[in-house]
Amino acid sequence: MRVITGIQPSGTLHIGNYFGAIKQMLDFQDKSDLFIFIADYHALTSLKDAEALRKNTIDAAITYLALGIDPEKSTLWVQSDVKEVLELYWILSGYTPMGLLERAHSYKDKVAKGISANHALFSYPVLMAADILLYDAEIVPVGKDQIQHVEITRDIAIKFNNEKGEIFTLPDFKTDENIQTVPGTDGAKMSKSYGNTIDLFTTEKQLKKQTGKIVTESVPMEAPKEYANCNVYNLCKLFLDEAGQQELQARYQRGGEGHGHFKMYLKELIWDHFAEAREKRAYYLDHEDEVRQILDEGAKKASAIAREKMQIVRDAVGIYR
Ligand code: ADP
Ligand code: TRP
Repeated sequence: MRVITGIQPSGTLHIGNYFGAIKQMLDFQDKSDLFIFIADYHALTSLKDAEALRKNTIDAAITYLALGIDPEKSTLWVQSDVKEVLELYWILSGYTPMGLLERAHSYKDKVAKGISANHALFSYPVLMAADILLYDAEIVPVGKDQIQHVEITRDIAIKFNNEKGEIFTLPDFKTDENIQTVPGTDGAKMSKSYGNTIDLFTTEKQLKKQTGKIVTESVPMEAPKEYANCNVYNLCKLFLDEAGQQELQARYQRGGEGHGHFKMYLKELIWDHFAEAREKRAYYLDHEDEVRQILDEGAKKASAIAREKMQIVRDAVGIYR
């Protein structure tokens, strides 16, 4: 089963991204043919700083490799290394009714937030459809905000197939029902736009500062504490098995420890959990040539599939070669 996912090269990742998205990707890697690419063309809709885009692209590759994307199991490449996707994007545009794009929530939300609308932002879902259909992906794991984009992809594919024959595989989206929203340091959803994140890769000092900022109720040290609605407990829980959770609950109920102790414990849990990833990241940062080689290999594999598919599509629409 082929699964495809695109990663926005958007800089620093936080533990909400890890538990909300990256962990699922790693699960898919073990049970499917995972295609994973860094969506640098998509990033162009909002990122206009060339140096930042170049840096973020390599940085995203390094981060995902560090967190466990294994090039032996999955195909990892940079979107712009396979130009066929842009040709397909244009061809699919001719099968995309304006109304379909005008209804896209993601576009409407961005415009409502005051982001100035340009054509790339508007036609973003068509490029996403090309990403998915070019590789005959069957499953697209997404967060809730991206479901509509996969539905648009299906609509475009159906329209094309109705006119030209069964050329594209119809993809299904997959959201993970088990994902909870990871709270940020203020208890609201952790998000880089709210400034309440705990970052995945940071210094120990900074991690201490970020966990130290978590809002907790004020209770005397000796008093028993409520764990169920405690932001620190809820973050610790992500890293603990059943026995670990019970042990921590007992510490809350016993009293005698303050929230400062639990914050310190959380810091340790995070620091330990990502120790191996941190080492791998340091390694890849020092060996960028290896990263580029992995991306080259991935692009080669993706290109072979893309070339074959595009020949079929060109024939179907009448491109003369
Ligand atoms: P941010 O809100 O920080 O900008 P993104 O929108 O870039 O994060 O999200 C990237 C991925 O991480 C998405 O799949 C999203 O669902 C997931 N994600 C982000 N924040 C959280 C969170 N607090 N809890 C669970 N998943 C999250
Ligand atoms: N739009 C997706 C996001 O913002 C990224 C993406 C681009 C993507 N192309 C894709 C995801 C194809 C899945 C499949 O997160």
